[in-house]
Amino acid sequence: MRRSFKLLAAAATLGLALTGCGGSGDNSADTAAPASEATGSVGVFTWWADGSEKAGLDALVDVFKTDYPDLTFDNLAVAGGAGSQAKSVLAAQLKAGTPPDSFQAHAGAELQDYIDADQLEDLTGFYEENDLTSQFPADLIDRLTVDGKIYSVPSNIHRSNVVWANVDVLKDAGIDPEKPAEDLDAWISDLEKVKKSGKTPLAVAGSWTQVQLFENVLLASLGVDGYNGLWDGATDWKGEDVTKAIESYKTVLSYTNSDRDSLSDWAPATQLVQDGAAAYNLMGDWAEAKFTLDGDKAGTDYTYFPMPGTAGVFNFLADSFTLPVGAPNPAGAKAWLTTIGSAEGQTAFNKVKGSIPANTTAKTDDFSEYQKSAIADFSKDQIVSSLAHGAAVPVAWLNELSTAVSKFGGDGNVATLQESAGATAEKFAE
Ligand code: GAL
Repeated sequence: MRRSFKLLAAAATLGLALTGCGGSGDNSADTAAPASEATGSVGVFTWWADGSEKAGLDALVDVFKTDYPDLTFDNLAVAGGAGSQAKSVLAAQLKAGTPPDSFQAHAGAELQDYIDADQLEDLTGFYEENDLTSQFPADLIDRLTVDGKIYSVPSNIHRSNVVWANVDVLKDAGIDPEKPAEDLDAWISDLEKVKKSGKTPLAVAGSWTQVQLFENVLLASLGVDGYNGLWDGATDWKGEDVTKAIESYKTVLSYTNSDRDSLSDWAPATQLVQDGAAAYNLMGDWAEAKFTLDGDKAGTDYTYFPMPGTAGVFNFLADSFTLPVGAPNPAGAKAWLTTIGSAEGQTAFNKVKGSIPANTTAKTDDFSEYQKSAIADFSKDQIVSSLAHGAAVPVAWLNELSTAVSKFGGDGNVATLQESAGATAEKFAE
């Protein structure tokens, strides 16, 4: 396990966090019939079950149906943002030897889990057949390649460290929407201004959305090296800088909606900003898709900026699709993966999903201003790996840390969170 985190940290340092490291299985997708000969239905497992997320999936499925009119798309989505419900359902299916034809996973440590468990087919031959190696950036391909093999096709790149804000609520609180706070302390004083204006300063929901807020406060407080070090052992979880970061998280959390734990998912929290009930929501840029779908206008209705203290840093995650060992229709899965990797598929999907294409040949001319800014930032920012979205640590580590973060939401005990997060890191980084 240790090996994986060293590799991930190195990738992050190089600004290249997309990685599918490890795996010594000798599975091969090469024996399956080619996509062009696929028939029947293709079962695809995601957590894009409703709202703007389903709209993104639907846009991709439309391209798939055009590419493969004789195939039937079987939507196996399990609702719950960030795969909060889907991942355990999937784990049970994989354990029982009844995988879907393709499933969504996060590039990075989460994918590594599946590779280590020999649950994924090697897609190296598929990359060659589809000339994908030349369509994704060479350095990305380098990092997707481990022991000469590649195990997934990334559909998109998302950013987790974005704050979305209601323009009118900011103005009413005396905050200039065009001048976002530059660091955590300045943001906390803006949160206080909103509180005085009578609105909820920061909207958050339960479970993973708090972990995502936590990761970005850690990033803002510790900086890139300090944050990366939390996952590869270079940062001491017992250190005073970590205590200070957790204290800042406690302060930020104190400005959130009191009903946060009863909001089941990210969308209701983002909705509070859209409704003018709250000023800010820290959310991955799938939120851009929701604002757009709901007809909100950037600049007039809402605005966005990197989490204060993280400008110049792109907190990265990517969804990547697989061909599981034992998939009922491997040729059909290859057809799906062909659409996923294609320029047309990536343009159609990412335009609606709020993310940016991983395929560099995908057209983005009519993408939103936010997405254009994300494309520019991704090419120049420092890249770090998201904790809440499977890029930084494996699922078991994330689950344990998530439990501690959730407990902290109730008791606010800084020492307890620091100790348990440190103990978890020691356990998994060994
Ligand atoms: C992430 C996923 C995104 C989006 C988000 C909210 O984990 O990578 O594509 O779906 O969860 O559900």
